[in-house]
Amino acid sequence: MADLMQMLTTNPLARQLGVPQPTRLRRGRELPSAPVALGSAGGGRIAGHTLELLGVPSREALVDTPDTRVTETDDDGRSREVPERYPSAIGALVVDATAATSISDLETVRGLLRPAMRGLESSGRVVLLGVEPETAGAPTAVATQQALEGIVRSVGKELRGGATANLVRVDLLTGEPTSPQELASTLSFLLEGRSAYVSGQVLHVGHAGTTPEETVARPFEGRIVVVTGAGRGIGAGIARTFARDGALVVAVDVPAGGQGLAEVANSIGGTALQLDITAVDAGRRIAGHVAQRFGDAARIHAIVHNAGITRDKLLANTDEERWGSVLEVNLAAQIRMNEELLTPDLPGGLDEGGRIIGVASTSGIAGNRGQANYAASKAGVIGLVRAMGADPRLTGRGITVNAVAPGFIETEMTGKMPLATREVARRINSLQQGGRPVDVAETIGYFADPASSAVTGQVLRVCGQSQIGA
Ligand SMILES: NC(=O)c1ccc[n+]([C@@H]2O[C@H](COP(=O)([O-])OP(=O)(O)OC[C@H]3O[C@@H](n4cnc5c(N)ncnc54)[C@H](O)[C@@H]3O)[C@@H](O)[C@H]2O)c1
Repeated sequence: MADLMQMLTTNPLARQLGVPQPTRLRRGRELPSAPVALGSAGGGRIAGHTLELLGVPSREALVDTPDTRVTETDDDGRSREVPERYPSAIGALVVDATAATSISDLETVRGLLRPAMRGLESSGRVVLLGVEPETAGAPTAVATQQALEGIVRSVGKELRGGATANLVRVDLLTGEPTSPQELASTLSFLLEGRSAYVSGQVLHVGHAGTTPEETVARPFEGRIVVVTGAGRGIGAGIARTFARDGALVVAVDVPAGGQGLAEVANSIGGTALQLDITAVDAGRRIAGHVAQRFGDAARIHAIVHNAGITRDKLLANTDEERWGSVLEVNLAAQIRMNEELLTPDLPGGLDEGGRIIGVASTSGIAGNRGQANYAASKAGVIGLVRAMGADPRLTGRGITVNAVAPGFIETEMTGKMPLATREVARRINSLQQGGRPVDVAETIGYFADPASSAVTGQVLRVCGQSQIGA
């Protein structure tokens, strides 16, 4: 969304003055256009198997060692040794470090990363794979696995041109190991443009009770997805993205937002439900709407708890109304709705293998001046997701529970921020720009994907690696 400050900072003069210019990010279901390079530190192989399963061709990654360096002469005639260059740009570097156990394995990771740091195309990707450190065994192995997090978070800050770096931890050493099928949806998401605004993050992929469905381009074909707060902003983006991927969207918003809601629902062939989610029977009314529109046998595949409000004030000026209204909409309402929709065999309720997705916020991680109520509600969402994701009553039914934590996203809500604050918020992240509703929507779509059945209890920041709470 263009505004005065954005025009000032992106005009040709600003460019000449050296104000950093945001890169146009690769978005959507687009794989990198250049080849994917694959390397392993310690001999792990799950990344290669998963790329094969996804049908993504890969080439062997270059490794920087004293033997592979070449001599380059700079403009002043000075020569220096540099890593061998990729013959042309690479679209991504995937490093399988799941079997990395030693400090020398970390040197291999460095050797794989160094040529890629200058070899990546615009909006390129670095994806590291590891295991949960505490499962790695000996202290050195635990330290090695933990070190990967430090590497990824630093690399994300060094990459330019819209490139991102993320770490995926899988289960290989305890319980049931993660399979390439279970990893596929995550790797596909991280390589594609869908993850444009996700960088410097750590995700866990565990084990699903049954073999996950295949990763396909329209995973929600014929499935019912409920999106609350769908009348505008991020919610409208979520509804549109689900519809693009085949979903029958039930768009929910307050009666006062009826016009926007009807426009969104009509534009995507979805149904509109005017409902204040704080109503005590909101869950039943959503299920009733689904059963009425789609038949008693119909079930919801996914519910996205996106509706949210802010009532900012310093805590010294926060009364019970300001406090309670935010906690009610942003947290209590979804706890009640979940309980109702999880009732087994409820016509129009949540399906077995269904998905619950919350919308938290970086404020819920870092806190924010004037937002104790909002931060409490969003941190509460994070707690809820962790608890529900680990609940055997849900995992036993194949139901996953995850949340996104957006940073600065260009919406009406953030459009009301003071100009200077808004521009700072746009800039203090590794991608040096604000995110778009579609970036949040794509991440939610990844969690909701039937292929993501091994991903639960996760909170993924969609913040361009914002420095807030990092
Ligand atoms: N915009 C950002 O940068 C940002 C950052 C972090 C998190 N978030 C979160 O993302 C979500 C969407 O934010 P947005 O920027 O699109 O906000 P928004 O204010 O533009 O949209 C919120 C929608 O929720 C609806 N809503 C509010 N109360 C409701 C209720 N009781 N019942 C039904 N619907 C209700 C509103 O009518 C509105 O359509 C919120 O949960 C917000 O906290 C936004």
